[in-house]
Amino acid sequence: MAREICISERLVTKYDIPRSNTVQVRVGGIIVESKLKVRDNLNGYQISPSLAKSLHIKSSKKLRLRYDSQEDMIHLGPVIGILATALPNRAGREELDPTSLQAELTYLSHVGRSIVGLVYIFLPSSLNWSSKSVRGYNYRFVSANRGVWESSLYPLPDVVYNRIASRRSEIRSSVQTTLQMLNELPYTRIFNPSYLNKWQVFQTLSQNELLKPYLPETCKLNEESLEKMLNKYSVLYLKPSNGSLGIGIIKVRKASENNIKFTIYYRGRINGSTDNAARLLKKTSVYRKDKPYIVQQGLDLCRYHGSVFDIRIIYQKNGHGEWQIGKKFARIAPGRSSISNLSRGGRVVTSRSLFKSLYKRKSLIEEKNARINELCRLVSGTLDKESNGAFGELGLDIGIDNRGWPWLIEVNSKPRKTTETERSQIIMRNSFKRPLEYGSYLAGFPVKAGSRET
Ligand SMILES: Nc1ncnc2c1ncn2[C@@H]1O[C@H](COP(=O)(O)OP(=O)(O)O)[C@@H](O)[C@H]1O
Ligand SMILES: [Mg+2]
Repeated sequence: MAREICISERLVTKYDIPRSNTVQVRVGGIIVESKLKVRDNLNGYQISPSLAKSLHIKSSKKLRLRYDSQEDMIHLGPVIGILATALPNRAGREELDPTSLQAELTYLSHVGRSIVGLVYIFLPSSLNWSSKSVRGYNYRFVSANRGVWESSLYPLPDVVYNRIASRRSEIRSSVQTTLQMLNELPYTRIFNPSYLNKWQVFQTLSQNELLKPYLPETCKLNEESLEKMLNKYSVLYLKPSNGSLGIGIIKVRKASENNIKFTIYYRGRINGSTDNAARLLKKTSVYRKDKPYIVQQGLDLCRYHGSVFDIRIIYQKNGHGEWQIGKKFARIAPGRSSISNLSRGGRVVTSRSLFKSLYKRKSLIEEKNARINELCRLVSGTLDKESNGAFGELGLDIGIDNRGWPWLIEVNSKPRKTTETERSQIIMRNSFKRPLEYGSYLAGFPVKAGSRET
């Protein structure tokens, strides 16, 4: 049977599709020439089984239709590929409680089913460049408490959501080559291209004058910068530029002129003291190894029941390509610890109850939230400008000082979106769904934005 697409009179008029006998039809990276029929008595569109086969889709599959006037093509989609490096092989209902990094992928696949279009997970090894197809995976339940990964052949995606979940996998050559090749495809766009480097982020952000009041002073760590910073501030944080989870952070406190105390956050906590910058570097070198570090002004953070905290914001682009807060919570450092990462024993409190306890008055709480919103907007706007809008999702660590002023501590490009103490299932689900809606938008199919943050 012939490759054929029948489109309703209504859609042809709506999208101003030229009424020729043949038309190019694109799904993801595959383009097929097809016969075009316009029908009065049709709802939407229909494609023939042979066209569906050439496009690697099922003819019954619900895809949206648009007309790409620039390319003179019918575009069916969206096709969203989630790039990962491995599939979790544990199966079972508990996979839908995505508290482990691997289970996040299972959950994402599950949530992807509610997106109109094709959504699949793929690995660098899944790509078949010559046939422009991909072996994609989706998680399906086979019984109430058992699931399996099902695979199928899909077209190359319109949009790649990069979910490579560790810096170590990201630098593998197979991953780098895959990203580069995807990047060169004419119809594919990637978002969340890479992990962020703390030094590069601060350099980029400090170009925006409006952000200056929110950025703690930050330098690349060396003896000279350490000496300069020690003369200026009584507390400093030394942090690995490519670090995360609080690992390798060194807090430095100048107790008096020749008395410098330090705490290394490694597996546990290691305390020490020394008397000058050069010796401090020497004493900590085994822990820093050869890794690049930054030295940052220590913030005099406000406390909640005696412990320091920071505000973690999951900032996401939505189905209209606009940034919005997807999630906002406070992480309280355990006891007298100076770092509040959850992986280091930090606990979660809703920002609402924290602000209520700190500021009491509604007007004051609103003022603080407005300031934080402004900070988020400035950060995302500046990064968008510098990266050509490459990020669809950011995790912002914001510290509030004793005067109530918000400071940007760190920006993450692959923030964890689950916490075991998470209260609202809906907020969590939306925070997983929103990047897929953004993917749909990037593919040319905007969707109604998901529900708002708490
Ligand atoms: N300049 C600073 N002043 C005060 N506390 C800080 C500072 N930098 C980091 N911290 C604390 O350490 C934690 C981890 O630092 P962060 O820069 O987010 O590194 P990581 O990538 O390891 O999460 C922060 O969440 C915060 O609690
Ligand atoms: Mg952090």
